[in-house]
This record gives sequence, C-alpha cells and structure tokens, in this order.
Amino acid sequence: MLITSVKTDPIAMFAEDVRAGLTRPEQKELPSKYFYDEIGSAIFEAITLLPEYGLTRADERLLRKYSDAIAARTTSPVMVVELGSGNGKKAQWILKSLARRQPTTYCPIELSHSALLACEREIDHLEGVSVLGFETEYLDGLRRAASRRAQNQRLLVLFLGSSIGNFDPGPAEDFLRKICDILAPGDALLLSADLVKPIEQMVRAYNDPTGVTAAFNLNLLARINRQLEGNFDLLHFQHVALYNSRERRIEMHLRSKCSQTVTIRRAELVFRLEEDETIWTENSYKYTPEEVIQMAERAGFHCEAQWVDEEWPFAQSLLSLA
Ligand code: AVJ
Repeated sequence: MLITSVKTDPIAMFAEDVRAGLTRPEQKELPSKYFYDEIGSAIFEAITLLPEYGLTRADERLLRKYSDAIAARTTSPVMVVELGSGNGKKAQWILKSLARRQPTTYCPIELSHSALLACEREIDHLEGVSVLGFETEYLDGLRRAASRRAQNQRLLVLFLGSSIGNFDPGPAEDFLRKICDILAPGDALLLSADLVKPIEQMVRAYNDPTGVTAAFNLNLLARINRQLEGNFDLLHFQHVALYNSRERRIEMHLRSKCSQTVTIRRAELVFRLEEDETIWTENSYKYTPEEVIQMAERAGFHCEAQWVDEEWPFAQSLLSLA
C-alpha cells in the first residue's frame, strides 16, 4: 500500500478553527471533524459497539446483504474510493464481492494516519484488491484518486456511516454536487443515511448510560489541552445531546457548569464561558428515505436502488450519474 500525504501543518489549522469557533459572538462551536484524534477514534469504535447506537450495525447489515447486488452492476475494473474510511472494515464486503469479478483498487481517504494504517491491515491481504490511501480531505482525496484511474476503470465512491448527517442540508447537497462533478457516466456513489425514528431512541443513541458518548464529546476539549496547550477543566463541563425537531437533527453540546475562563496558548486565546453556556460540537441530521433521494437528484444523481434496514431505520442509497 502507498500512502500519499498532502497535509499542511494540521496543528496550525486546528488552532485556527478552534479560535474561530470559540470567538463567535453568539453560540460558541467546535468543528466535529476534530473528534477523531487517536483517542477520539478509539472512543468512537466503542460507541459503535453500544447497544443504544444501532447505526453502525445497521450500516454493516445492509452492506453485507447487498454487496453482491452492488458489485453486479459492473464488469469493468473498479476503483472504490471511500470518503472517511476509518479502519476500512465497512468496505470489506463490497471489496470482496467486487474482487471476485474484476480487478479492484481501494482508495481510502482519511485525515488520520493511524486509520489509514489500520486500512492496510484490514484490506491489503484481500485477494485481488490493491490499496492506495490518501491522507487528506474528502474532495481533495477524491480528485487525486480520480486522476489516477485507468481509462476503462469505473469509480464507486463510498460515503458510509451517515457522515452526511454532519453537514447542514444546503452544504450536504453542495457536497453531493461536487462529488457528482468529479464523477463520469457509469460511476456511482453509495451513500448511507441514518433515518428519523422515535425521539427517545435517537436521543439514547447519543446519550448512552455508560457515558461513552460523553467521553467522546469531552475528549475534544482534552485534545485541545494536549495539542494546543489549553487548560480546559473537563470536570467543569457536561455532555448534552438533544433532538432539535424543527431541524430534525441531534445536537451535541458541552455545557459549562460554572462561569469560567479558559486559556488556549497555541491558539492565542483567552475566553470566558458563563454558567450554562454551551459549546456546540456536532449536528447529526436524520433523514427520511425520500429526502435522501430528492437531495441526491437535485445534486445531479439518479437513484438506482435504496435499501432500508429492518431493525434500525437506516438507508443505503446507490446513486449513479443522471
Ligand atoms: C460518524 C458522524 C455518523 O453522527 O452518529 C456518534 C458520530 N457522534 N456519536 C453520528 C457520532 C456521536 C456519528 N457519525
């Protein structure tokens, strides 16, 4: 496996984003993409095992069940590009189904170096699959991968885990349109989305009694302490997960239990938090199956198939160029 890295000082970018988010005049916020340092990624792995968090298991059930149907669409050599691959575990079923029929290249796109190494361990030994990883942002990685495709090679983009749920609706559609612009006729996108379900069930998935999700959320402050010389006292913050019915999203926040002053040296920042003031750390939008199709169509895709899990409302949509 070959890993192409194109990072420009990630700590400086982190500091800049933290500074921008914590100096906002109204609601303070931190980008959810920074959850996934090595510790955050390990905690996320634990989240996927929680009985309350059915999302990952639903995703995997659908991938296992329909990977042959997805692979049967094409007989040409395929390049599978996964946006945010994590450890590459979820791609394995599709890769196995594809590699039985045709030469298959797997291009995981990941910001995390250790996740890319995990992909290598997970996938590189699969018969008939070659791995080419890119340590970069989603669209940059997709463009780089696409530029290396052979003439007869089809592209299958995977955007799994309902990561689309982290985008606001407008940006989500724009993002799909940008993917569409990079693709060519015959290419496809497999998009997964967590679906609207009873409110208690959604809230429990982000507010598990063991406190694993609370640890995941709080680790963002701990990461700032570690990497940016911050002095957040984690005991002075409380994990909050709520469902915003109007926007149809789970919101995660970190609530300040008291009025306090925080210093983050490497972001050159000193700021105050009032008691009960929150730092907004994540949105996780919930879709209806029809909404996913409509959004994809507005972005230039045609929906070839959609599968919904029977245990945990969750959809896999196979989209091709319109
Ligand atoms: C990986 C973005 C899909 O929103 O459910 C899990 C992240 N946050 N628990 C999600 C997450 C809190 C997850 N995604």
